[in-house]
Amino acid sequence: MRIVLVGPPGAGKGTQATYLAKHYAIAQVSTGDIFRTNVADQTPLGVKAREFMDAGDLVPDEVTIAMVRDRLGEADAASGFLLDGFPRTVPQAEALDEILTDLGTKLDAVLEMSVDEEELVRRLSGRRTCSGCGRAWHVEFDQPSVDGVCDDCNGKLFRRDDDDPDTVRRRLEVYTEQTKPLVGYYEAQGLLCEVAAIGAVDDVTRRAIAALDGTS
Ligand code: AP5
Repeated sequence: MRIVLVGPPGAGKGTQATYLAKHYAIAQVSTGDIFRTNVADQTPLGVKAREFMDAGDLVPDEVTIAMVRDRLGEADAASGFLLDGFPRTVPQAEALDEILTDLGTKLDAVLEMSVDEEELVRRLSGRRTCSGCGRAWHVEFDQPSVDGVCDDCNGKLFRRDDDDPDTVRRRLEVYTEQTKPLVGYYEAQGLLCEVAAIGAVDDVTRRAIAALDGTS
């Protein structure tokens, strides 16, 4: 399977990406995670990306596309992948089509994850991210057994810089302006399916798999 997840900040893309990649035994490629690792390691890519991420804006297309082209050329992506957070603009979607043509393959499905804005703000304001494995927890909806510590790897939890209220507002605007048009782009290609990404995480995973299997 070659899958793209599309949805606003806080829709649960990262949360579901982990379960879906495991279910289909495919590589999980999360551009936000790749950028955050580069920012933490202070690589040239991270230094370039940081100012855009902190402002809630998108990292320029040329930087992001080159990064994804390299990542999809790696061995673990050859038998399938799930893209979380890419593409995010129509030029990125067009570039992805070209990358896949070059690799001699194509997408199977694009899953749109829908959640209303009030719930998105609640999720992002309470999110805590693991500094070790990157897993998202939530102060209300998904608490670790020990406060501030990841159950999976014992990493320390922190609040992402871009989860402050002003940056969240900007990220939601950017989603509506620049990313939402992808829904029409993929609908026109007959690739789009949708899941209401509300309710328990397990239930969302089950509904997402049912929607994806319906398209494959
Ligand atoms: P990125 O990391 O991709 O951020 P995002 O799209 O804004 O998405 P989030 O990670 O905020 O949310 P999510 O949908 O993954 O939700 P999560 O599962 O964590 O990108 C960050 C930045 O990097 C961008 O702003 C941009 O600057 C840059 N970037 C990345 N890709 C780029 C690209 N292609 N082009 C240019 N720039 C790019 O869940 C959120 C919370 O909700 C968690 O606390 C979780 O525990 C909780 N939760 C999840 N599911 C449920 C549920 N069913 N019920 C209750 N709570 C739930």
